[in-house]
Amino acid sequence: MKLFSQMTAALTAGFALFGADSVMAQSLTRVNNFGSNPSNAKMFIYVPRNLAAKPPIIVAIHYCTGTAQAYFSGSPYRQLADQKGFIVIYPESPYSGTCWDVSSRATLTHDGGGNSNAIANMVKYTLQQYNGDPTKVFVTGTSSGGMMTNVMAATYPDLFAAGIVYSGTAAGCFYSQSGGTNAWNSSCAQGQVRSTPQVWAKMVFDAYPGYEGPRPKMQIYHGSADTTLHANNYNETIKQWAGVFGLDPAKPDVTQANTPQSRYTTYSWDNGKLIGVYAQGVGHSVNMRGADDMKFFGL
Ligand SMILES: *[C@@H]1O[C@H](CO)[C@@H](O)[C@H](O)[C@H]1NC(C)=O
Ligand SMILES: *[C@@H]1O[C@H](CO)[C@@H](O)[C@H](O)[C@H]1NC(C)=O
Repeated sequence: MKLFSQMTAALTAGFALFGADSVMAQSLTRVNNFGSNPSNAKMFIYVPRNLAAKPPIIVAIHYCTGTAQAYFSGSPYRQLADQKGFIVIYPESPYSGTCWDVSSRATLTHDGGGNSNAIANMVKYTLQQYNGDPTKVFVTGTSSGGMMTNVMAATYPDLFAAGIVYSGTAAGCFYSQSGGTNAWNSSCAQGQVRSTPQVWAKMVFDAYPGYEGPRPKMQIYHGSADTTLHANNYNETIKQWAGVFGLDPAKPDVTQANTPQSRYTTYSWDNGKLIGVYAQGVGHSVNMRGADDMKFFGL
């Protein structure tokens, strides 16, 4: 019955958007059994009609109060998937308020059973189900989803080739001393948590002890006037990945003013292994840049 009503909803959406002659027009679909999921995160997927033979996969993670459907409608990936034939996974937070758990030890640990583990299982399911390209799996997200993007890159470096963070915080910055799940961490949000690249990098290394394989390249967007997640979180996130990659956060190789647009500055380290985009005067809503994301992902 549940499945039936979902199918009906999907078909109705298909009719509404594309008309009766394209019942198969794709829409966002819930996937119930994608593997172990002790934290009860929800999985939604968008599989375009012109699916590539070995499709790349993008995981697109919503903000607090957001839903999979809201991010599906509000982000550029659906159109890009139609053009390029990749799959988009839209995870949905199981918590009221729909922030992601970026605070518990479980979620900050590879195969720890938290939300990060659930999202990794969504990726593994999709790779298998659709013959996905394991070398082209990417993660991105906004705000809480941006935090989660850093957490995914830290806990599952083996899965992702690249991550793009819109207005997030460093992996581990929202850690809850009292063991809270999806807890708010005011000192991090207010930009008061400041550490060395070494300390930040250790949080990443500790998320998957013993891992020595390749790690995703990272691109970090943040607005200088962000009052929800203070702009210093940009600097700490850059320090974190610079620490992980053995780079000097104070010495980007390339600095480009007014790039990609007026008042944004783009900093690049190690041929784009790490890119920071600092948006002067912009608040918590840094616009997603679909075409640029495709370039960074190599799609
Ligand atoms: C907030 O996170 C920091 C690490 O970034 C941690 O040291 C601090 O204890 C956390 N605050 C709470 C209330 O748990
Ligand atoms: C954070 O980084 C930006 C961009 O490089 C820089 O303008 C700003 O001064 C830095 N803030 C701190 C507190 O270092």
